[in-house]
Amino acid sequence: MRLVFKRVRLVDHSMDRRGTLVVEGGQIREIYFDEQVDENSRGPALCIDCSGTNWVLMPAFMDLHAHFRDPGFPEKETLESASLAAAAGGFGTVVCMANTRPVIDNLDLAQHLHRRSARLGLIDLYPVLSLTRGMEGKDASHLEALNPETVQDTVRLLSEDGKDVADENTLRRAFRAARRLHVPVSYHCDWGGSEAEAAKAAGEARSVWSRIEENRATERVLALARGAGIHIHIAHVSTKEALDLVREAKSTNEADQHRAPHTGGFHVTCEVTPHHLALTEETAEHLGAESCGRVNPPLRTAKDISALIEGIQDGTVDAIATDHAPHTESDKAKGAPGFIGLETAFAVSYTTLVAGNHCSLQKLSALMSYKPSHILGLKDRGFLAPWARADLVLIDPDAAWTAGKEDFHSRSRNSPFIGQNLKGKVLLTLHGGNIVWSRLPALPV
Ligand code: DOR
Repeated sequence: MRLVFKRVRLVDHSMDRRGTLVVEGGQIREIYFDEQVDENSRGPALCIDCSGTNWVLMPAFMDLHAHFRDPGFPEKETLESASLAAAAGGFGTVVCMANTRPVIDNLDLAQHLHRRSARLGLIDLYPVLSLTRGMEGKDASHLEALNPETVQDTVRLLSEDGKDVADENTLRRAFRAARRLHVPVSYHCDWGGSEAEAAKAAGEARSVWSRIEENRATERVLALARGAGIHIHIAHVSTKEALDLVREAKSTNEADQHRAPHTGGFHVTCEVTPHHLALTEETAEHLGAESCGRVNPPLRTAKDISALIEGIQDGTVDAIATDHAPHTESDKAKGAPGFIGLETAFAVSYTTLVAGNHCSLQKLSALMSYKPSHILGLKDRGFLAPWARADLVLIDPDAAWTAGKEDFHSRSRNSPFIGQNLKGKVLLTLHGGNIVWSRLPALPV
């Protein structure tokens, strides 16, 4: 069965124009801009006629950073609930982090999750492998026996997300393995050494010492990655200083990103999260800075937000990633850091960046689809063109809505955006040509 999106606004990183897009056999089969073509004359098709609407068809989003909590924490999330949340949020491909129980530190477990997700058919899931065995920060030998070809079928990023690896020798060893495997390392920067310890001992606020931790860790990991000649991807950048370090490091990028996956050489990319773009430390105070408003890295200042937006405008920021981090209410009350984000990522980013006149929808598409696909080395998606994979999302950019507590598919409710007015709503998500999520009436899902 063919699926036709008729006279829809087509937006990706390089195009914003009205046309008709035909999906068949799991791929985009055809895109045409000629108003005269009568699609109905070409045989049976399900037609979504978008004439008279401002609806936008875009490549599905790609999240470089989510916590699925599977295996080990079904009270927070499962692969099934997170995948449904992702599909409802317009995502087609997601990278899930390794801080599960047990930790994802072996290929068998990563392959098991990847296969379970393929059977579910809602999204493509690429689990990360942790940089150290058990995420204990001591031993990176588990990466050394792995074969690059086998790894890349399942694993497209390595990461110890949630933690910094303090021991330099262990980190160097992990980076050498990453280089051999041609897989980028996503790095959570959160280690300030003696400077942060001194600030803590002096009773400085978390906003002070956590800033030192992020900035020092970014500087340190960029230097180590440069030495190892790897592709380092800095996760959830939140301070102006850390972003300046990334900008400076990028000026010496060696590897050609168009040759991804990563054929060697020092290469830097980075991501920011919707919550660090939209919220400040005042929001955290309001929500409960040491409980419900707690997230790592913490929410920062209005000046940091301006710096992140500038980084988006000048190309320093490559991607928007959710850091979807589900927690139960009681874990949040005890101070577990993190927010859910898959189901609000597009609307929060659209409201802040596009409706806020800071960037175009094309740029947002690059940040949420095209550039992440490059970082992961997935060349068949992230753009609109004949023969690309039909992972697509239909958006109503004019829809204004308020996120309600009961609206989420995630098992958790720890969203700082509940009750906030947002703009831009996902209407339908297509994965490999199949409708996996829809708000439109009378469509087969
Ligand atoms: O706030 C966070 N929560 N930041 C992280 O990096 C980890 C995450 C989690 O796993 O809960």
